[in-house]
Amino acid sequence: MPYYVTTPIYYVNGEPHLGHAYTTIAADVLARHMRQRGADVFFLTGTDEHGEPVAQAAEKLGITPRELGDKNAVRFKELAARLNATNDFFIRTTDPEHMAKVAEVVQRIHDNGHVYAGSYEGYYCPRCADFKTEAELEEGNRCPIHKIELTIEKEDNWFFRLSTFQEPLERLYAERPGFVAPQNRYNEALAFIKSGLRDLSLSRARLKWGVPVPWDESQVVYVWIDALLNYYTALSYARPGEDLTDMFWPATVHLIGKDILKFHAVIWPAMLMAAGIEVPEKVTIHGYLLLGEHKMSKSLGNVIEPFQVADIYGPDALRFYVLREVSFGADGEVSPEGFETRYTTELANEYGNLASRTLAMIERYRDGVVPSASAPDRLTADFEGLADVVKARIDEVELTAALDEIWRRIKRLNRYVQDEAPWQLAKDDAEADHLDQVLYTLAEGLRVVSVLLHPFMPGSAERLLEAIGREDLSLDAATLGAVEGGAKVGELGQLFPRVEAEAPAA
Ligand code: MSP
Repeated sequence: MPYYVTTPIYYVNGEPHLGHAYTTIAADVLARHMRQRGADVFFLTGTDEHGEPVAQAAEKLGITPRELGDKNAVRFKELAARLNATNDFFIRTTDPEHMAKVAEVVQRIHDNGHVYAGSYEGYYCPRCADFKTEAELEEGNRCPIHKIELTIEKEDNWFFRLSTFQEPLERLYAERPGFVAPQNRYNEALAFIKSGLRDLSLSRARLKWGVPVPWDESQVVYVWIDALLNYYTALSYARPGEDLTDMFWPATVHLIGKDILKFHAVIWPAMLMAAGIEVPEKVTIHGYLLLGEHKMSKSLGNVIEPFQVADIYGPDALRFYVLREVSFGADGEVSPEGFETRYTTELANEYGNLASRTLAMIERYRDGVVPSASAPDRLTADFEGLADVVKARIDEVELTAALDEIWRRIKRLNRYVQDEAPWQLAKDDAEADHLDQVLYTLAEGLRVVSVLLHPFMPGSAERLLEAIGREDLSLDAATLGAVEGGAKVGELGQLFPRVEAEAPAA
């Protein structure tokens, strides 16, 4: 079963921040989860290096766009690695193979009769690299996203007949209600289509930094056309000597932030139709992490900087926090205080302590071997169907809901250990079987939640599973009672140690 998941490719005009980390983390959760289910996964991320936003940023710094791209692409690559993301390839739109393929597809769109020479006049935002309609402008002719005042620009260039795709797009949306998720974004994209589509300029005359238009080398391909095509071009050269297109195209899911909905849900499928290429199965949209300034936290200062958090607390804590704190799909605040609270109460106490207590009791009362027993019916019932629910949530890309299902079971295990008080049972020989049952159930419960948590917190889940002597990650065995006792437990140490760092200098 092929499964192809992508993140947007990130602009190299600035350093990576938590917002970029967020999409990469979410895509990695999908990729890892699907691998656990036995899918043949291809996970793509990368950088968007052409176009005006990058050219302008480079100019301000007095360096070439290529120099800026080289510098920041490295940072985005490092970020993916630091987050423990398992992307199969990292595409850069300056890769010659990508550029050649863009020229090829654009030529096909042209040859299929969807391109004409024209001129356009309108309000243009250089930061969006996009023309705005008057209806979209905010007061003072400002860009609704960047808030900068826009001027009217006129350009002669090549146009893509987007308007002729209105009907095919409406048909696509009618036939495939799952094409865009969640529902409110589907509605938003469809309303945009129904409001009438204007043709789109496919090239830029003023700019030199991009892929030359194959039939008119005085112009370069519009950066969004170039960028969107990354999802398709990457497959043709990501694995040397192989073309993965037949295997992985159409993409299973493009994961994006809400800011780039129109490009992915309207322009992208139209471009593909124009080129005679299949459209992706699904575009899934997440909300924004609101990264406001907060009161100083002890170890993190006042913003969540992904490299710093990963260095101090480890990548798992960051991955967990962003997906737990903000309901995936919606916008929500994140803050260093919120991070520290969840780190201590949920990761260190509810999960980490439960694991270390359980292992210590197995060591102490049962010579380090998980006893053979069966879980009590009420716990089995509380875990019943968990793996299927998690799978269903992840299929819907409801990552926060999936995580919540798992976390409720962790809380359940904490209640269980409190209720049963195994340290009391250990004092009474007549309770030996009962103690076996409690220790077995805790080890099993921890195994099940850790297998399911693995895509969210791979490093910690692996450490825990190794310590309880169970390393099988397959979801088929993620039910309470699927594995018998008898495993030798090992050392775990502190999964989420207390952090005493000082706030970094401002
Ligand atoms: N280069 C384009 C995308 C081209 S894809 C063919 C672009 N790049 S970007 O660097 O601006 O990154 C945009 C993406 O980063 C968003 O769609 C979103 O996935 C992520 N985020 C950036 N800031 C964010 C938040 N504050 N919160 C959540 N995600 C956001 O647009």
